[in-house]
Amino acid sequence: MAKKSLNKNLNKAKSSKKDEFYTQLSDIERELRHYKHHFRDKVVYCNCDDPRVSNFFHYFSYNFEKLGLKKLITTCYKNQDMDLFSQNNSEQAIYLEYDGDKNGNKVPDTTEIGIKPLKGNGDFRNQESIDLLKQADIVVTNPPFSLFREYVAQLIEYDKKFVIVGHQNAITYKEIFPLIKDNKLWLGYGFKGGAAHFINQHYEDYATATDRKEGMIRVSGVIWLTNLEINKRQEDLILYKKYYGSEDEFPIYVNYEAIEVSKTKDIPLDYAGAMGVPITFLDKYNPDQFEIIGSSRELGAPMSSIGIKGTYMAGGPRFYLDTGNGTYQRLYDRIVIRNKKLQQ
Ligand SMILES: C[S@@+](CC[C@H](N)C(=O)[O-])C[C@H]1O[C@@H](n2cnc3c(N)ncnc32)[C@H](O)[C@@H]1O
Repeated sequence: MAKKSLNKNLNKAKSSKKDEFYTQLSDIERELRHYKHHFRDKVVYCNCDDPRVSNFFHYFSYNFEKLGLKKLITTCYKNQDMDLFSQNNSEQAIYLEYDGDKNGNKVPDTTEIGIKPLKGNGDFRNQESIDLLKQADIVVTNPPFSLFREYVAQLIEYDKKFVIVGHQNAITYKEIFPLIKDNKLWLGYGFKGGAAHFINQHYEDYATATDRKEGMIRVSGVIWLTNLEINKRQEDLILYKKYYGSEDEFPIYVNYEAIEVSKTKDIPLDYAGAMGVPITFLDKYNPDQFEIIGSSRELGAPMSSIGIKGTYMAGGPRFYLDTGNGTYQRLYDRIVIRNKKLQQ
């Protein structure tokens, strides 16, 4: 029991540490240059952002006039438990409102930024944060990884436009995938090389991150998620392969009627049926070109239900391939798609 709760605490601490990865200005600039036209006359809300350290606040306050913003609101979370590694070490949670440059120097001076105390700790779920959220048109931030499901659910509940940072693992969450399938959220342009370098000055080691630079941590699989229209989403993926009915090239799953296409670039241009593709396909997804049917988590029949016994269910439903030597290969999560623009 004691060991269990120790593990639980360690896991909690580990995900809380991940919550303290700070986004670089260059990454914010690289993504948001594609959305500039969306911001004109809009109220932008950064609700997980200490203005003293957040580059989201920096980006929007310094580009306020260029973007033609109406207002910038930022809330700073007063972290109660993590004083050791949180940068949010102020005595009190605050929020601020910025209406743009008043004295003509094109810089957000402290006298122009209205800083106000919050009654609570600035948690995005608090009523006072929700009241600020209601004023906002577009929410832009990198929210805490550990609260990602709740965070997105709130944006959907309040019908907000958003551009946020997340991890590609979130794509398969049962709370997130239906939103992607129903075209209520999609992937943005993304980080350079598919990995983000976050500012991380408060602890040393983290198992899934490699290539550490002083004060920085590299995390692969980090994505931008948005529900704002972007040109990328209207671009067709160029396909070059033909389907010749070869089971060697495109095997059929044992527990779902679809062909396995293990690389997005190999999607056959002339195949009309269901195809399973890796989740990274979403980076190239254009809803005019493809329809999303579902994911292996919801579509994969339990192996026991089709009379195959063994340890084939560990970790939830997935698709399986028959290896031909009496065993079955369990695949990573797959998204099932159908080509809407067949070519000959
Ligand atoms: C991944 S960090 C990103 C910080 C900043 N948005 C950025 O991109 O540099 C997530 C931030 O959310 C804060 N946070 C954690 N839990 C929160 C909550 N419940 N409500 C609001 N902010 C929270 C963390 O303290 C941390 O500053």
